[in-house]
Amino acid sequence: RKRVAVLISGRGSNMASLVNAAAEQDYPAEIVCVISDQSDAAGLHFASSQGIPTLVVSRRDFDSKDAHDAAIDAHLKAFKADIVALAGYMRLLTPGFVSQWQGRMINIHPSLLPLFKGLNSHRRAIDAGVRVHGCTVHFVTADMDDGPIIAQAAVPVLSNDTEAALSARVLKQEHRLYPIALRLVAEGKVRMEHGRTVCSGFEDGGADSS
Ligand code: GAR
Repeated sequence: RKRVAVLISGRGSNMASLVNAAAEQDYPAEIVCVISDQSDAAGLHFASSQGIPTLVVSRRDFDSKDAHDAAIDAHLKAFKADIVALAGYMRLLTPGFVSQWQGRMINIHPSLLPLFKGLNSHRRAIDAGVRVHGCTVHFVTADMDDGPIIAQAAVPVLSNDTEAALSARVLKQEHRLYPIALRLVAEGKVRMEHGRTVCSGFEDGGADSS
């Protein structure tokens, strides 16, 4: 089983969905630690309750972004992490850190990328008048919410949708999608090569069966 570290900043519901998936016997990954940059992240309580080691690595304890990321990197190595899963980690990572984990770090974002990168994706989807919205799991590159796409899930945007209703609809799909995407990466069926997503090991030759 691949060793996965999850980085969070808050609620941690996507982290919880990965923890729950990894509790299944045949899941190809285990969650070996949860690291938060926020000491009051609610998700830390859930992780602890599941017996998963948790760490808080606060930005303010370091002089620079590089030093902060270096400290996180040292923890990941101490836990012998194979894969890093960002789950609502609301900090842009430094290029040096990202290159260390190239092809082994994934993120979930609440939009159909490349649309609506950054914050308030649901508000912006409603304002843009799109009729389809959703979530994306992608390999992390140095640019925010960028990088080769692993999997996506779509939901309808309903007339008179509120931001709360739409975000809840998307979040439900996030909780379904992230464990599927992590499984594909952990099994080596989806990899990042030369800045692109490459699939193999599927009977039909593609990842579309997810
Ligand atoms: C999730 O919707 C995730 O997709 C989003 O933050 C939320 C975290 O919720 N991430 C981003 O916006 C990253 N750019 P959670 O802490 O309950 O998983």
